[in-house]
Amino acid sequence: MSSYQEKLTTDMQRLEKMLQTVVGPQDQTHTPTPDDRTRILNLACGSCNEADTLTNFFAKIKNPKQDASLKKVELLGIDVRAREIADAQRRFRSGKDCQQNIEKKYQFLTGDASKLDSHRSLDENFDVVFMRHQNYYNGGRVWEKIFEQALAKLKDDGQLVITSYFDHEHQLALNAIQRLGGQLIDSQQNLESRELPTLGKSVDRHVAVFRRKD
Ligand SMILES: C[S@@+](CC[C@H](N)C(=O)[O-])C[C@H]1O[C@@H](n2cnc3c(N)ncnc32)[C@H](O)[C@@H]1O
Repeated sequence: MSSYQEKLTTDMQRLEKMLQTVVGPQDQTHTPTPDDRTRILNLACGSCNEADTLTNFFAKIKNPKQDASLKKVELLGIDVRAREIADAQRRFRSGKDCQQNIEKKYQFLTGDASKLDSHRSLDENFDVVFMRHQNYYNGGRVWEKIFEQALAKLKDDGQLVITSYFDHEHQLALNAIQRLGGQLIDSQQNLESRELPTLGKSVDRHVAVFRRKD
């Protein structure tokens, strides 16, 4: 395994641990859909390195039957960068993951996450909206629009989960999402987060979960 691949694998293990901490081992408040299909929307997903981590984790915790039955999960990823989306499409294919006993459906679209209303695949709302390394520093107004869209795309009992690279950028996002109608459930610092060359920047440094306020 290359050292890049090793880092990625470790990052994913740490992300899963953080999800266990902030989202919980099992979502007791979730009302399952008639066909027990968990729907995840990943906004500004880039190459979506986390696709399998998210589908494995949420398929299990959102499924009330903790038995051996086949679980179904769908992940729709959106990013403005066509090259990253093509990379995600190449790496993550729909099908049955026999090891996890999960039927996975992946769809990746090039598009603007601040204007989701124009996307036809987004008619139905989601159990989870996820944003990894939200980028509030790179245009607060655009990211506020993305946060607004993220909250609007949640089912009534859906969860919005974000991760951030920086302490201050995370705080700005927490403030903005709460202002826009999100109820903060929990926010935790990832103490194992991998440091990056920029001072104060590290992988999934903070992870937070919200619900939509009534
Ligand atoms: C910091 S990167 C994070 C990428 C990925 N989630 C990750 O963790 O590797 C921010 C991403 O936001 C995307 N982005 C910025 N504005 C966007 C918009 N309006 N709609 C969709 N994606 C956007 C960028 O293309 C970039 O991939």
